[in-house]
Amino acid sequence: MTEVRPARTGTLRHDAVPMRLYHEAKRLGAWDPQALDLSRDAEDWSRFSVAERDVLLRLSVMFQAAEESMTRDLLPLLVAVTREERLEEQLFLATFLADEAKHIEFFRRILDAVCRQSGDLQRYQTPSFRRLFSERLPAAMQRLLIDPTPAAQADAIVIYSLVGEGVLGDAGYHAFNTALAGGDRLPGFRAGLARSQADEQRHLAYGLFVLSRLIGEGPDVWQTISARMEELLPLTLGIVSEFFESYDPMPFGLSLEDTVQDAIARFATRWAALEEVKQRGRPLASPPGADQVVRDIQGWVGDQLHPAPIEVRREGTGPVYTFHVGSGGAAPEGQASALLITEEVVAHHSSEDVIAALRVHRVPERLRATKRARLTCLSAGGKIIVQPPE
Ligand SMILES: [Fe+2]
Ligand SMILES: [Fe+2]
Repeated sequence: MTEVRPARTGTLRHDAVPMRLYHEAKRLGAWDPQALDLSRDAEDWSRFSVAERDVLLRLSVMFQAAEESMTRDLLPLLVAVTREERLEEQLFLATFLADEAKHIEFFRRILDAVCRQSGDLQRYQTPSFRRLFSERLPAAMQRLLIDPTPAAQADAIVIYSLVGEGVLGDAGYHAFNTALAGGDRLPGFRAGLARSQADEQRHLAYGLFVLSRLIGEGPDVWQTISARMEELLPLTLGIVSEFFESYDPMPFGLSLEDTVQDAIARFATRWAALEEVKQRGRPLASPPGADQVVRDIQGWVGDQLHPAPIEVRREGTGPVYTFHVGSGGAAPEGQASALLITEEVVAHHSSEDVIAALRVHRVPERLRATKRARLTCLSAGGKIIVQPPE
């Protein structure tokens, strides 16, 4: 009789990128689309013009369909990672899958309770959109079930993460954020958008981590990544253009040029990080770029001000990240305390340096002590300063 193998008991490397993202997901990703108060949103909806409503509806429909594909098509990646016994990545992907489920629920709730559209909205899916989400994405992801080679995994992550969550997700959030910037309309919708966008940043960080790991393990994978990206970019930008082609004039002052520029600039940072990995031949020790610094600061400020939630917003490509304290996004602008951090600070300093400066200037204490406190963290002469001084 053969002896039955014992169940595996894996150890966890808490400092590995996927585990760091996993812990972040538990801390920052716990939100409930059902808990968003949409009563004001339902009233606000009728105050938008017909064309404005159409833009918001179209975006929501596209997001809802994309989130559904992303949820369904993530499973083959989870299977591939599980087969390779990458326990830390399995843990993170479990949170990832739950996030995507919440995104479907969130956009469905917006369509039902705010836009009040329950019928068939497939007319908003343009040809390029269908091509990507009904053909290319499912094909690349499902291929992993029969062909989990590094090249197939790289291919899948380029389309899922760099293209879907990256360029397209960024363009979509840019359009939403520009359309809803500056006002206090649709507070519940904006709160949910901020939460789902923050979730996507973690997913993107994981996608980049896996690509960097694959490049580190076998440099040939780089060919697959760059060829696929080059091939998909026209289709991706086609989706953005087809969205804009539907309107003349375009409501909310949205511009195709700005939207594409913003998405490409964010993509360029990620691409540069991957090129660096290729050159050094070593995977990323931490997720790259400003996104990670912002998330680290959000995590630290959140721990200091617990249980008040911290929500980060950036108006389009504006030069400032605003960390709203305890508003849950529902308080009108200016009613809750906020910490403003300039892009320069985030781009030129490490998270450790920024957090050290916030600690020295007793930023959490001051945000907690004063109602509607507004502190600004900026960079001058290479130093991080906080205004106004204590
Ligand atoms: Fe999502
Ligand atoms: Fe995602």
